[in-house]
Amino acid sequence: MKILITGGAGFIGSNLVHTVVKKYSGSKIIVLDALTYAGNPENLLPVKDKIKFIKGDICDEKIVEDIFREKIDIVFHLAAESHVDRSIYEPPKFLRTNVFGTYVLLENAKKYGVGVFIHVSTDEVYGSIKKGYFTENSPMNPSSPYSASKAGADLLAQAYSKMFGVPVIVVRPSNNYGPYQYPEKFIPLCITNALEDKPIPIYGKGLNVRDWLYVQDCVEGLITCAEKGRKGEVYNMGAGQERRNIDVAKLILKKLGKPEKLITFVKDRPAHDFRYAMKSEKIKRHTGFKPKVKFEEGIEKTIKWYIENRKIWEKIKKSPEFEEHKKRIYGDLF
Ligand SMILES: NC(=O)c1ccc[n+]([C@@H]2O[C@H](COP(=O)([O-])OP(=O)(O)OC[C@H]3O[C@@H](n4cnc5c(N)ncnc54)[C@H](O)[C@@H]3O)[C@@H](O)[C@H]2O)c1
Repeated sequence: MKILITGGAGFIGSNLVHTVVKKYSGSKIIVLDALTYAGNPENLLPVKDKIKFIKGDICDEKIVEDIFREKIDIVFHLAAESHVDRSIYEPPKFLRTNVFGTYVLLENAKKYGVGVFIHVSTDEVYGSIKKGYFTENSPMNPSSPYSASKAGADLLAQAYSKMFGVPVIVVRPSNNYGPYQYPEKFIPLCITNALEDKPIPIYGKGLNVRDWLYVQDCVEGLITCAEKGRKGEVYNMGAGQERRNIDVAKLILKKLGKPEKLITFVKDRPAHDFRYAMKSEKIKRHTGFKPKVKFEEGIEKTIKWYIENRKIWEKIKKSPEFEEHKKRIYGDLF
């Protein structure tokens, strides 16, 4: 079996590679990743001898064609520009990678054929919902260049399935958390700043709600979709673990024995989605998949990982890419 994972040096991608290597031992596992600021080869160190790593851009038609020519059984497409805050000040990168890069992959899947193409979308394509839940049939209503570019990619993947018969399955996971996440994202920023006794920035009053999916659950869900999902379908993948940002921050501080006074409210970002929430019954009905990890358990595992892997995130937090982003968004706060 030949498996291609794009964005495999990133957060969800590296967790997926670790599991795929165990589950499909004996298969050829190709990881295609441009190693942007968000991609870290150290995330793949434990499995580096078991994969073929290609440093390359999904927008590079030559590199992508050479890979698909080999006839791929499963594509897990995760490569993306993934941070909403960065999409405020550098939208072109999001359009290029998320839309054009997805097109290049789909086009080659069409040309050379694939067993299944798992397109990893996001709950953010629906936009915000105050009450109730989005289903797979709810309209897309994105609020940022990030979610708009993901909506474009999601629609393109569905169009390649309908028009050209590419065996696409679109999966829309909710907010992930867990080991190997880049420390600009909310949960790792809370944990690492708390470990460094630095202020924890919270947008607005911290009342925004996210549905937190432990990354290993997300990985199992993507693999289950590849094995049991129906081609041409779209699946929501929520965790049913909604929490307000302020409560997440307080829980992390409590677990670390740090004071709540580290929490610092900062000016909200424009068009900050208030709540994401999806019904995820279809994925269960079609594939039997249901996330297992409760938020309290997942957050403990995540905190433990950041405590034990201080070297990895300290190096990232000292990098010019992290510093520059931090300055743009939080000024001199920490
Ligand atoms: N993290 C979440 O909470 C979440 C939730 C729902 C959906 N998603 C989606 O899941 C996927 C993975 O998210 P993540 O959080 O792991 O992202 P991430 O930012 O941690 O990793 C993205 C990876 O893609 C690589 N990449 C970026 N541009 C590339 C390009 N042009 N060519 C090749 N590689 C490139 C980066 O180097 C990095 O390794 C994304 O598609 C994201 O939209 C993420």
